[in-house]
Amino acid sequence: MMETAPHDPIGTGGVDDLEAILAVANTDPSVVAHVTADDADAIFSWQYEKGARPELARLYEKAKASQWNAETDLPWATPVDQEQLILARASAGGGPFAGMDLSGTPFASWGEAEYLRLKVENQNWTLSQFLHGEQGALLCTAKIVEAVPWIDAKYYAATQVMDEARHVEVFSRYLDTKLSGHYPINPHLQQLLDDILRDSRWDIAYLGMQIMVEGLALAAFHLIRELSNEPLLKEILRLVIGDEARHVAFGVLSLKEFYAQLSAGEIRERQEFAFEAAVRMRDRFLQQEVWERLGVSPRDALPLLLRSPERAGFTALLFSNIVPNCRRLGLLDAGDGWLRARFTELGVIHFETRGDLDPELGVDRLLAQN
Ligand SMILES: [Fe+2]
Ligand SMILES: [Fe+2]
Repeated sequence: MMETAPHDPIGTGGVDDLEAILAVANTDPSVVAHVTADDADAIFSWQYEKGARPELARLYEKAKASQWNAETDLPWATPVDQEQLILARASAGGGPFAGMDLSGTPFASWGEAEYLRLKVENQNWTLSQFLHGEQGALLCTAKIVEAVPWIDAKYYAATQVMDEARHVEVFSRYLDTKLSGHYPINPHLQQLLDDILRDSRWDIAYLGMQIMVEGLALAAFHLIRELSNEPLLKEILRLVIGDEARHVAFGVLSLKEFYAQLSAGEIRERQEFAFEAAVRMRDRFLQQEVWERLGVSPRDALPLLLRSPERAGFTALLFSNIVPNCRRLGLLDAGDGWLRARFTELGVIHFETRGDLDPELGVDRLLAQN
């Protein structure tokens, strides 16, 4: 799996290099495990006293008081009719190509049945990627427990490991019992998780997971919760969002101290990592595997998707937490402002001052309370 070189958006191809995007492919979907070397040191701290970093200590107390039980706190008996729910939604018609000229493409002959199937597969794929991403969060946060040098951060990260186990549990159960199919991990997402896990620098685990992956997940969960008319999924997402907002706050509180003392060269490495992570996540949402399952070549679908106005709005929303997170860390303007320039090119820089989608469950509220 993933023997090919990663899509290098900073190299000559640029962010929309279709061949580079498609070269990252899952070559063996039947594998049952994936191994990544972890090059970080496991660090013992003998400074056990709690509260040396009071903000992290307070977040740890909050996390202990906010635990929930996936077995008993959710209405699992709720019946879910996937197709009926999609058809009942006002926005069910159209699709990602609404308003576009499709003549000469495989979609020219598509009608309601094909778009319904696309939406069903889209949901199966999206929830499958959430599931795999949650396992990624589980492993990355276990790595933080080992690799972060501060005891307050180890304590907090341990609560997040429990949170992520619960998230894996709920998404796995929802896919198994309520939806109609599983997808293997998207190769762009796997590459990003591998990049994060392989890196020897402990802060990269935070930057990749808490700031980028979880920043994006938080926006996606909010969006899907808002659009969904299914009460069980809405409740799952409400509980998961509450946890994820805390996880993003954990990343911001930990890294802003650390990044304030890095050199310009070290900061530039973090800016480049953040940008590459952003592009990998954009690439994953082109959902190559869905087109293949529907019998459409991704070579036909992706150029249309990259131009689709509906898709562009969706992609931008997914960056709506990442850009403010990078601003909170000072990464946008550090050095020569390299990251600001890149996010400007991607068309997502205007999100830098955007507040939380749901202030009750937001990151700003958690940071302000701290
Ligand atoms: Fe999670
Ligand atoms: Fe999380």
